[in-house]
Parts: sequence; C-alpha cells; structure tokens
Amino acid sequence: MKISIKREDNIIKYELDLKDITLLEALNYIKSNLDNTLAFSSGCRSSVCGSCSMRVNEREELACNYKVQDGDSIEPLKNMSVIRDLVVDMDSAYKTNFKAKAWLNKLTQGVSLNHDDEKRNEVQSDCILCSACYSACPVYAVNGEFLGPFALTRVWKYVSDKRESDEKSKIDNVQSNGVWDCTLCNECTLVCPQDISSKADIEKLRAKSAGYGYMDPSFGSFGGGFGFDGSPSF
Ligand code: SF4
Ligand code: SF4
Ligand code: FES
Repeated sequence: MKISIKREDNIIKYELDLKDITLLEALNYIKSNLDNTLAFSSGCRSSVCGSCSMRVNEREELACNYKVQDGDSIEPLKNMSVIRDLVVDMDSAYKTNFKAKAWLNKLTQGVSLNHDDEKRNEVQSDCILCSACYSACPVYAVNGEFLGPFALTRVWKYVSDKRESDEKSKIDNVQSNGVWDCTLCNECTLVCPQDISSKADIEKLRAKSAGYGYMDPSFGSFGGGFGFDGSPSF
C-alpha cells in the first residue's frame, strides 16, 4: 500500500507492507520503521482526545478512527498554521471559545434539570475539540475572525441551558463575526466525528437572535431595506 503525506511544501510517498490498519497505526509504523522525522499528534487512540485530526483525501478524519487505504493522500488541517508536517497550532481554533464566551455566564440558583432538559443539549457536550469543523468551514477563507462552528455550538449549549440567567448577553455577543456569518453550508456537520451539527445549532441561535430583535445584516443592507409603508425600497 502506498500513501502520500504533505510535509511542508513537499508530498512524500511511503510504501507500507501492511493491511487493515488505522491511519494512526500507519503513521506510527512510518515513524518507527521508515522515517523518524515525521511529525503528527495523537493521544488516546480511541477517538476521544481529538488530537489526531487531519485531512485524508481532502476530508477531515481522526487518524485513529480511519482505516487507511492504498493511494490515500494525507495533509494537515486547514485554517490553522502548520507547526510541522501534520501538527497544527490549534490555539487559533480554541480561542474562538473564549471570544464566543462559550460558558455558563450567570447561574440561576435553585433551578434543577429534568430528563428532557438534559436531552436538549446533550450532544453538544460530546465535542472533543478536534477542530475538524474549524478546518472544514469555508468562512475562514474570507473572515479569520469568524467565531465558527464548535464555539457557536457551545454557545447554543449554554443558551439552551435553563440554568443560564443571562441568555441575552450570550446572544448579543455572537452577532458580530458570529451567527450571521455562517453560510449554512453544513460542511462542519459532515466531518464531525461526534455527529454534532453546528449548522443546526447556529440556526437555533439565529432564531433566538431574531427573538431579541436581531436580523441578518445582509438583509438590512439590501438596497436600503423597506419603506415606511412596509414596501421594499430599492
Ligand atoms: S455551516 Fe456554517 S459553521 Fe458550518 S462549515 Fe458551513 S459556514 Fe462554517
Ligand atoms: S463540533 Fe465535532 S468536529 Fe467540531 S471540534 Fe467538536 S467534535 Fe470536532
Ligand atoms: S488519538 Fe485521540 S482522537 Fe485520535
């Protein structure tokens, strides 16, 4: 089996006499037997730490969860700077959580959750911060400040938590470079190893935003909006 790996500006081909292995096993084999200069990240080997995320044939995968195939082409995640080979600097992605204030802002005392409440945002808690969605999102090509998929998913998790008593400030904070900048392309959802749909969560945040009087700014700037009688003015 031959696979190729993007290393800085070069594509290096490796030949492995192995079958039925994960990509992470293949990378470990290469490092131990063929080329000890190859750099990649990994941790748990069981799809829970998120550190082995990379692109295979132009799609984000967890190396420990992907069965490598003859002819596969491996490259680092997009939208982050490459430290070396397949290792990227995920700090820029993680900082989106901070910018989006993706945490419980103000706890209401004395509110307890029932089973339905727990179900409402259970899936968002499963994010392993692998940054696959961040890599797949096309918005970063035009707006590096976009809060982005996993941070907005986390914001939805806390906005939908009935113990959060300051929902509005969370919604206020995701108006700029946030919910309206998403193109709803669904690329984030397609690559998420945890079956989280950031697109769906962003749509729910948009609905909440509308409830607080916000609207898509691209409608507001469309030829001057609406006239006093409610008719469109162009
Ligand atoms: S749906 Fe939105 S957040 Fe997800 S990849 Fe597309 S633009 Fe990015
Ligand atoms: S939302 Fe999914 S793809 Fe994005 S960081 Fe979390 S687990 Fe990874
Ligand atoms: S090594 Fe932890 S997710 Fe792959």
